[in-house]
Amino acid sequence: MSTRQNNQKIITKNEKETFAFGAALARKLRGGDILLLYGELGAGKTALVKGIAAGLGVKEKITSPTFALMNVYLLPPPSKSPSGRPPHQKFWCGGRGTQKFVHIDTYRLKNEHELVEIGALDYLGRPDTICAIEWPEKIKELLKNIGQGPKIITVRIEYAGGNKRKIHILPPLSSLPKQVRDRL
Ligand SMILES: Nc1ncnc2c1ncn2[C@@H]1O[C@H](COP(=O)(O)OP(=O)(O)O)[C@@H](O)[C@H]1O
Ligand SMILES: [Mg+2]
Repeated sequence: MSTRQNNQKIITKNEKETFAFGAALARKLRGGDILLLYGELGAGKTALVKGIAAGLGVKEKITSPTFALMNVYLLPPPSKSPSGRPPHQKFWCGGRGTQKFVHIDTYRLKNEHELVEIGALDYLGRPDTICAIEWPEKIKELLKNIGQGPKIITVRIEYAGGNKRKIHILPPLSSLPKQVRDRL
């Protein structure tokens, strides 16, 4: 997949590689995790989300929720056959109720309250739900209020010439000193 991989930074050469990286990243995710996806328009945030969803076992086509703001996908239950076991098996077994993947895109959000109105807070940080948020910089205040419980993983995608993209994963927010967290 990647041409270079050192720690938590990788370069992808095309959308397919970004998708593959998302699918690999999905294996590391657990219920309650919140991914904040930063990057300019066209950087590849949605491409990464598509990969994450596929890695979590979502079979539906992932569309950009630019107009809907939020899409909720139900994750399939773990398969009995070891070969067909989805990677989120542990997360499923450890959780309660139906496991979900929630994709939020705040690009067209007018104010943070709009997201509250559509029930996004019911999903953020829930132990049975993984959330991925595009344009998280637009909901700074809301994110400040979700507390220290959920693991927040910051992902930055940058243009790196042509079709190359640099994807940088920062450690969970909760593991960073407060001064650093406040600057994100
Ligand atoms: N390395 C790459 N990774 C992801 N997308 C890429 C890459 N190279 C080119 N692209 C193209 O860039 C666009 C990324 O779109 P999208 O994922 O919707 O971006 P965003 O959600 O950040 O606005 C797509 O048209 C995709 O084909
Ligand atoms: Mg997008």
